Amino acid sequence: GPFTDVSLPLFFGWFLLSSVQDKVRCTSMDFLKTLDTMDAFKKHLIDFTGKAEKEVDLEQYFQAKGSLHCTTKFSDYGKADGAKEYAENPVVQKFYGSVSELSLSALFVTPRTVGARVSLTEEQLLLWPADAEKEADVPAAASLPQGSRAHVTLGCAEGVEPVQTGLDLLEILALQQEGQQGELVEEMELGSLTYYGNGRWLLSLRESICAPACFSSYYG
Ligand code: A2P
Repeated sequence: GPFTDVSLPLFFGWFLLSSVQDKVRCTSMDFLKTLDTMDAFKKHLIDFTGKAEKEVDLEQYFQAKGSLHCTTKFSDYGKADGAKEYAENPVVQKFYGSVSELSLSALFVTPRTVGARVSLTEEQLLLWPADAEKEADVPAAASLPQGSRAHVTLGCAEGVEPVQTGLDLLEILALQQEGQQGELVEEMELGSLTYYGNGRWLLSLRESICAPACFSSYYG
């Protein structure tokens, strides 16, 4: 196949086409700006600041890095478990370089990360590694459906690595699966906002954002 041991990428994933990156960034900024000013958010500010009464500017709080993408397999130049097997999977090779539409169905914010949940199609799930949810050290995540971890990292708090975004999403989905409905805070223009405690916010989008993306890899 096209990948050899010496040429495995840092990660495989869907890379949002540049036209839609701006749209997603704008939607995320709008959401952060609105969340920031909501009384319900201010009530739980201590989760973000460590201190009550302190203000936070969410747009400054999160730093965005690089171009927007949804990681399928973090292969770490071949050092990650299953990296070679993934690269050699005929489905991966078949779809490599192809464009499909990612459905961004929710936005979420925690004191560590901000991201978009990606709802994968059956076809896109063929590119999803079987152990992605199990590998995560998140209680109860292993029993979530395949593809639950799929997301686009939109920003990380200072000192937080982007791998955290998928773990934060799994944490929220695990709570939902356990039957914790969260606290429905507000119907916003973009969708319904729910609070899950410990600074975890989920905005289920009324209309998913359709984001064309190219399945490819990143070498760094
Ligand atoms: P994510 O997909 O949540 O954005 P880094 O810059 O830290 O090397 O990471 C490169 C990309 O690979 C990022 O997009 C990151 O997270 C993802 N990533 C890093 N480590 C892992 C991991 N252990 N498992 C899954 N994805 C990872």
